[in-house]
Amino acid sequence: MPTVFRYIKPEISPRKDSEGFVKGARDFIRKHVKSNDKVGIMVSGGIDSSVTAALFYLEIGDRLYVTHVDTGFMRLIGGKEESQLIADRFSEFKNFKLINARSLFYEKVMGIHDAEQKRIEFRRAYEIVTEQRMRESDCNVMTQGTILPDIIETEKGIKSQHNVQLRFSNVQKIVEPLAGLFKDEVRKVAEFLWSSYKMKVLENVSRRQPFPGPGLSIRAIGKITLEKLEVEKRANAIVEQMIDEYTRKKFNTNLYINESTGEQIPFQSFAATFDDVFTEEIKDLTPLLKEKMGKNIRCKILNANATGIKNGKRVYSHPLCIESRVELSYDILNKIGSEIPLKTSFSRVLYKVNSKVGSSRYIIAIRSVNSIDAITARVNEIPIIDVERIADEIVDKCDVKEVYWDISPKPPATIEYE
Ligand code: XMP
Repeated sequence: MPTVFRYIKPEISPRKDSEGFVKGARDFIRKHVKSNDKVGIMVSGGIDSSVTAALFYLEIGDRLYVTHVDTGFMRLIGGKEESQLIADRFSEFKNFKLINARSLFYEKVMGIHDAEQKRIEFRRAYEIVTEQRMRESDCNVMTQGTILPDIIETEKGIKSQHNVQLRFSNVQKIVEPLAGLFKDEVRKVAEFLWSSYKMKVLENVSRRQPFPGPGLSIRAIGKITLEKLEVEKRANAIVEQMIDEYTRKKFNTNLYINESTGEQIPFQSFAATFDDVFTEEIKDLTPLLKEKMGKNIRCKILNANATGIKNGKRVYSHPLCIESRVELSYDILNKIGSEIPLKTSFSRVLYKVNSKVGSSRYIIAIRSVNSIDAITARVNEIPIIDVERIADEIVDKCDVKEVYWDISPKPPATIEYE
């Protein structure tokens, strides 16, 4: 088993001193990587692995072997496959390789219902590809973009992060320079490195939203099939693009950072795809909802499980879907979205924004949240009329039946659904 070395120095935070942090992280890399070591890194294209790769590249140059795996669960961005865009960004790294491993990942993950099982199988496939690549490039050291929330949430059992739990037999060491940082601190490091070294891989990286390792496999909720994945891919691309446009119009940038609180608006925006299967309409919730909305509400339970956090522990239970005859303000939506999961067994609340008559078997939830560090998050208060526009586009371009707007904060919900 390799030994894991993590650079954790809360006293040198990039919030106050990015340069000091980078110097410390580079010293740390030098201390743990010998002059004849070869270091491997698997990059997702997200900010954490990009910054880690950049730090190592500055220190050890071509002894860094960078690999991106096209798992088949990556996004469409501006009509292009994300993996191709990632390969482009890493073009200045001499030892970069893009591996198409779709068939292996599909073989392992397709057909699975359970969220945790998906992660486990995804991780197995990832381990196989990684182990093979480390052997082939003869790397004896590995690095990863693990950050502090990954470690905390895995240790608390809220979720198993695949980069925290990967273990390889053929490498001796795993060296993690960002392991003591929160997301906003990683952004500071990225901005500092970009302004100092202008590496293409860091261009606008600090304004890119996080994307989970298991990708769209955990956004095609419940049993995953190629058809559901295809719907998810298209709906997700629409949500990302339209919220991006909305944010640029409002703030003149795709990601606004509130300087006094550090909150990012939005932190993350995406679609999740559910099967169109509901249990019966429910009556016993009516008193709880009535005090907020009178008689204007209908609610039904989605027959799928989504993750949430209650009393610091992970829950995995049905989302509640509500439909209102009158438009509701964010004051009311926020109350419903946080109180219902707290007072009931539901993991979150979804608010209906559009539907279409037809034979489609899919339901879409649009999620957009603001957050500082992903530990907590609140709903991005996009005017409902704009959310409806996104839903119209989804209904128009994808084979779906209903579209909902997720109105639950984290906690009691989580940002992702699985
Ligand atoms: P949750 O759903 O736990 O997500 O509120 C918090 C943040 O973590 C991201 N996330 C992941 N990132 N591998 C990753 O690399 C994962 O398995 C994973 N699960 C969640 C999520 O997108 C959000 O930014």
